[in-house]
Amino acid sequence: MTSSDIRKKYIKFFIDKGHKEIAPAKLVPENDPSTLFTSSGMQPLVPYLLGRTHPAGKRLVDSQPCFRAEDIEEVGDNRHTTFFEMLGNWSLGDYFKKEQLSWIWAFFREELGLPQERLYVSVFEGSNGVPKDTESYEIWKSLGLSEDNIYFYGVEKNWWSRFGAPDKMSVGEIGGPDSEMFFEFTQVEHDPKYGSSCHPNCDCGRFLEIGNSVFIQYQKQGDGSLKELSQKNVDFGGGLERITAAMNDAPDVFKTDLYESIIQTIETVTGTKYEMEKEKMQVIADHVRGSEALIKDGVIPSNKLQGYILRRLLRRSAVKLRQINKDIKLNELATVVSDESVKAVINEEMDRFSRTLDQGLKEITKIESIDGKKAFDLHQTFGFPYEVTEELFRYKGQEIDREQFKAEFEKHKELSRTASAGMFKGGLADNSEIVTKYHTATHLLHQALRDVLGPQVFQKGSNITSERLRFDFSFDRKLTDEEIRKTEEIVNKRIEEDLKVDRKIVNPSEAKEIGAIGLFDEKYGLEVSIYGIGPGFAPDSKAKDQRDRGGYYSLEFCGGPHVEHTGAIGKIKIVKEEAISAGIRRIRAQLA
Ligand code: ALA
Repeated sequence: MTSSDIRKKYIKFFIDKGHKEIAPAKLVPENDPSTLFTSSGMQPLVPYLLGRTHPAGKRLVDSQPCFRAEDIEEVGDNRHTTFFEMLGNWSLGDYFKKEQLSWIWAFFREELGLPQERLYVSVFEGSNGVPKDTESYEIWKSLGLSEDNIYFYGVEKNWWSRFGAPDKMSVGEIGGPDSEMFFEFTQVEHDPKYGSSCHPNCDCGRFLEIGNSVFIQYQKQGDGSLKELSQKNVDFGGGLERITAAMNDAPDVFKTDLYESIIQTIETVTGTKYEMEKEKMQVIADHVRGSEALIKDGVIPSNKLQGYILRRLLRRSAVKLRQINKDIKLNELATVVSDESVKAVINEEMDRFSRTLDQGLKEITKIESIDGKKAFDLHQTFGFPYEVTEELFRYKGQEIDREQFKAEFEKHKELSRTASAGMFKGGLADNSEIVTKYHTATHLLHQALRDVLGPQVFQKGSNITSERLRFDFSFDRKLTDEEIRKTEEIVNKRIEEDLKVDRKIVNPSEAKEIGAIGLFDEKYGLEVSIYGIGPGFAPDSKAKDQRDRGGYYSLEFCGGPHVEHTGAIGKIKIVKEEAISAGIRRIRAQLA
């Protein structure tokens, strides 16, 4: 069975059970500064898992491309990838454990025909005030699973939230106990390096997780406890690549049809067989496939945010390619993809990198022992992402002091503390000073547009790079030159006034009461972060007309970061104003 047959069967199976198929979200979420990528099927559905009504109903199904940047280091075995496709079905406060477990069992057993004795499941053993999931255990048994194929685990394995175990969840985050399914590759011998005995969550490669039913029914509270949500949800996700590997009874996702042509091209380009250089080819295959998806979603290589992750994927692939065959031309990497525009982006990045790669690799052989400072020099001179250097030296058995690299980085870029924290949080290169300036300028622009055009102006989207800000807002006609001039003048005046920028954490009703604006609808949680620009709250702090009473000029829902005083921004210039769709205008502005 091909991956495409499996996808079709899954969607049809759940449509027959009353689900509506929904369109997958983009890999780069819009208007969600809390995350760089869509990393699971539930991510775009969070507001609905919290109780908002979904237009397609309470039973949903889809196939969602996902990207997990945090897994970059894991790639290089039979099952880890950064990019994958997640088959997903949801109950938004509708059916619960009994239906979910029976259906998913029927799907794997009857629709796909996987043999019962090679299927294992895991169930939550209870902790953090959440009881042992005996209900799921009993359901699995009633479905015919032998007790020997049901395992109990704690929060590390059988609790799911976007941030992991309950203590890692931020306030307002949702999650719950889960029940995973595993396929056993009986042909793989247990490797005692991973423990004396094998079990479904063992890392030796004998077991592969092929699906996860999460019972999303809790929300993290400010005091650290978990509160039951008003609705009990089901969030199922299963990796298409892994399910296909189980169906092939071949314990390697890179041997599925999803990677077939990629691996073949890498073999041709390098003149080397997959079996000879598995780990390196797995990295290249995953990274190029992921890069292709990111580029198609509009990401281009850069030193910021998603662009930096893409750069890391491409440069790491290039290094691996050279390690397999030192004579290879880096633009051969682009032959792995078919789309011409994606090829062009990859080629451009390879041109940039190839100028320094050889020299850099030579340099590396000369370095006897690496430290953070030398790693920084390689980054500075040859464009080696820190992680690439780290990996090259790990091969030589040497670890780099990351803190020292960070310190060096800060010294040279005079980066603000937030900026460098951003860079190293998940390896991101953003929250740079310039992006932060643009971000604060965007808040001023939003309020200034409302001053000039009226309160019907409302943010519809925003995108910031180190070169410009882009702000989309509701308004139904072209702005006049005079309106543009006035808006620009107001923003620059507020900058000149060097207003203070404050962050406040309030609950959503308070935020509304004081008239904070912004994309509140997309936010959730018990507490929200708002930013105020101006002298502070007016004496009557509940008043919506803060400004008229000498209070904050701008008050907006936002996660930050921002400059501390508007004077740091300098001066801005609106360089373009245009329509992007009916009733929505777009402004681009640059620091003058
Ligand atoms: N959201 C769950 C996961 O990603 C299904 O594993």
